[in-house]
Amino acid sequence: MERLKFTTDIAQKPQSSGFLAIFVLILGVLGLLALAGAAGTYIYYQNPGGYFWPEPREPWAAIPGEAEWTVDFSADVEKRDAVVAAFKHAWSAYERDAMGNDEYHPIKRKGTNLTDAGGIGYTVIDSIDTMLLMGLDEEYTRARQWVESSMTFDRDANFNVFETTIRVLGGLLSAYELTDGDQLYLDRAIDLADRMLPVFDTPSGLPYSQVNLAKRVGVADPDNRGLVSTAEASTLQLEFRYLGYLTDNLDYWDKAENVMKVIRRARLPNGLTPIFMSSDAGKFMTSDIRLGSRADSYFEYLLKQYLQTGGVEAMYREMYADSMQAIHDNLIETSKTRGLTFTLEIHPKRLAHNNQMSWIRTLKQDHLVCFLGGSLMLGATTTGALFPSSVSVPPKKEELSEVGQRDWTTGVNLIETCVDTYRTASGLSPEIVHFREKIDSGKGDWFIKDAKPPGQPPVYDARYILRPETVESLFLAWRLTGHPKYRAYGWEIFQAIETHCRVPGGGYASVLNVEEVPVTWEDKMETFLMVRRFSFFVLAGWDRVPDDNDGVLQSETLKYLFLLFSDNTVLPLDQYVFNTEAHPLPIFSPSVRTGLF
Ligand SMILES: *[C@@H]1O[C@H](CO)[C@@H](O)[C@H](O)[C@H]1NC(C)=O
Repeated sequence: MERLKFTTDIAQKPQSSGFLAIFVLILGVLGLLALAGAAGTYIYYQNPGGYFWPEPREPWAAIPGEAEWTVDFSADVEKRDAVVAAFKHAWSAYERDAMGNDEYHPIKRKGTNLTDAGGIGYTVIDSIDTMLLMGLDEEYTRARQWVESSMTFDRDANFNVFETTIRVLGGLLSAYELTDGDQLYLDRAIDLADRMLPVFDTPSGLPYSQVNLAKRVGVADPDNRGLVSTAEASTLQLEFRYLGYLTDNLDYWDKAENVMKVIRRARLPNGLTPIFMSSDAGKFMTSDIRLGSRADSYFEYLLKQYLQTGGVEAMYREMYADSMQAIHDNLIETSKTRGLTFTLEIHPKRLAHNNQMSWIRTLKQDHLVCFLGGSLMLGATTTGALFPSSVSVPPKKEELSEVGQRDWTTGVNLIETCVDTYRTASGLSPEIVHFREKIDSGKGDWFIKDAKPPGQPPVYDARYILRPETVESLFLAWRLTGHPKYRAYGWEIFQAIETHCRVPGGGYASVLNVEEVPVTWEDKMETFLMVRRFSFFVLAGWDRVPDDNDGVLQSETLKYLFLLFSDNTVLPLDQYVFNTEAHPLPIFSPSVRTGLF
């Protein structure tokens, strides 16, 4: 792949060939004609300008403020067992009230399904590997029994391809791995994947975002005019590739991998990746550029695809390096008062006075972005290591390349920022924070936008919906540094969850305003209504809306907390990659089959 030039020249045009420029122009005009008149008219991506500014590199530092510590990876049994008890508290309520339903509502004590056509094992499958890891044999036996006798994918309704893949397909493959090859799980995984494969039959090979599992057809997303989000297209590969490896059916591998080739061909001159792509054209659409929803796991899977096959697929390493460079050049910022590292977003906007496209920086960070700290540290000790097989814990400066040092530093600092957002009245983090443009002494660097005083209906941003990303990063940081503070942070977060989210009758609930204590739990119906209300703004980022928090808490947040307090022989990072739903998949050596070496 050609090396990129990054520029601070905002007037610089895309460095594409004339032919390509004309092609893009034609597509753009077609897109405009097709969609003109609608609010927020789509056009194909234009080179954003007006936001580049030179950023001095921060010096490398191991862990700010802490020079030395003793690395001791033995389990913290008491805390680990407390997490196991929390999982049992969540699972037992689900099993009692809603076994086999896709989702569980602990306050109403009832289950619901994603569609009217019936459940697909969403919560059961998502939880099986956690039970295996925690040694919950009785619960596991009943769950396996349910999979064997009751689960079916023959449901005549549309399911989200991304969610179904990361939870159900990923969960089945992890269960297969952690049971040393229980055929039941592989058979179910093959059945599901075969039903989903037609989603890749689009003009570009980018998948449709939904699938009818009974009819085995891909369905364009009606809420987003047939577009597919970048993260949804690019967060299927770990699962389909591993299934391809297990079955020797190259169809799984090739169709998933082809998506990455399409994305690579669609590369923008600045290396940034807007959140929407067209499945027809295989191109990026003019849409938000950010690291949170609809973008996040694209970056995660670039790195993890590279790690999954033991570092032999150079394409992923290059795409990852390219993306991390673009992110550092454009999206990483430092807060004005306390120097916190955070990420910002860039939004397209049509200027009223001349109808020109312009790009607006917004100092907004989703909780979802908190995966990035741990991911950058993992990338630094692998793609950024001079000799990846012999990196110390924590890494020494001279073991990392310059880029590795940069990514390590950003990752360490970003985690501190994410942990800082948990320093609220409840000890829980808001869903979205904004950062101040200027020094504003007396107030913090970050804030909840339009926050309402206690007693008034809180804004969407103020909620904590049991998100896993920060504890995911804490787990990775712990394994890569052995620094005790990461366990301490995780324990604080866990205690806040226990204090404020635990429903006495069983399960855990989301909190509507992290700054209001005692907290108010979320009413699921209300969330659902909010989802509908916000769906108009889906281009601005209201997605992965929390219709499914309880499953999320059971499987992912608690799994990473469990691993944080376990010893480091449990799922070692040089033998496993975690899919974006925290399902561990083994690292393996592919035979020559991908063409991407
Ligand atoms: C959800 O689907 C399952 C079938 O898997 C069914 O037993 C259950 O009754 C459904 N739940 C609701 C609330 O309809």
